Amino acid sequence: MKIAIIGAGNVGSTLGSGWARHGHDVAFGVRNPKKTDSATTTKVVTVMEAAQMSDVVVLAVPWPAVQDALLSAGDLTGKIVLDATNPLRADLSGLDTPPGTSGGEKVASLTSAQVVKIFNTTGYPNMANPDYHGERATMFYCGDDSNAKRITAGLAGDLGFDPVDAGPLRHAHLLEELAMLWITLALRQGYGVNFAFRMMRR
Ligand SMILES: NC(=O)c1ccc[n+]([C@@H]2O[C@H](COP(=O)([O-])OP(=O)(O)OC[C@H]3O[C@@H](n4cnc5c(N)ncnc54)[C@H](OP(=O)(O)O)[C@@H]3O)[C@@H](O)[C@H]2O)c1
Repeated sequence: MKIAIIGAGNVGSTLGSGWARHGHDVAFGVRNPKKTDSATTTKVVTVMEAAQMSDVVVLAVPWPAVQDALLSAGDLTGKIVLDATNPLRADLSGLDTPPGTSGGEKVASLTSAQVVKIFNTTGYPNMANPDYHGERATMFYCGDDSNAKRITAGLAGDLGFDPVDAGPLRHAHLLEELAMLWITLALRQGYGVNFAFRMMRR
């Protein structure tokens, strides 16, 4: 699959290198490709070039940069946008969205792509390795297009996650609240980054 990663930071570079290892064709879209280490083996191009050459576009930028990043990506009609962002307040004390709304829906209002909310509910070290003693960490996702969600679940599975469909995109606020729980446990309750949510079934 041709995948553009917009934002080559903690989340973007972890997801991108994981998929590249699985044989996907990954291009990082960055603001200044010339500044990037020339030794890298993965494509590093402009945001527009990466997005336009790909079928799946991963949004992995800080929340205040979302609008600019999507504008820089150009027309994304017919593509899938995986929204990994969290609309966090700068001090990480909570979400910066009005009650009843979500970052995922805001992202969808800014693009004509099919948006799937995913990869926002856990820390990036779990994206590098979601295996806990043979059990796979759960990766919740939500969106309105069944084909986009099928492809998304496959990509999460490639990284080793147990993908779980959490319903339509209007449920994105639930995933963003779950992200707040993960962040609170990790940073304020002393659990660190080596834990993950897992849904048990019987
Ligand atoms: N960190 C986590 O564990 C984690 C987990 C789940 C979700 N998230 C969410 O994922 C997003 C990224 O988090 P992160 O920790 O990966 O952040 P990060 O390490 O700070 O990386 C952000 C990246 O976005 C790029 N960027 C900033 N503004 C941009 C723009 N206008 N256009 C294109 N690229 C731009 C930055 O590139 P420059 O070098 O050009 O500044 C940087 O590479 C955030 O929304 C965060 O809430 C984070």
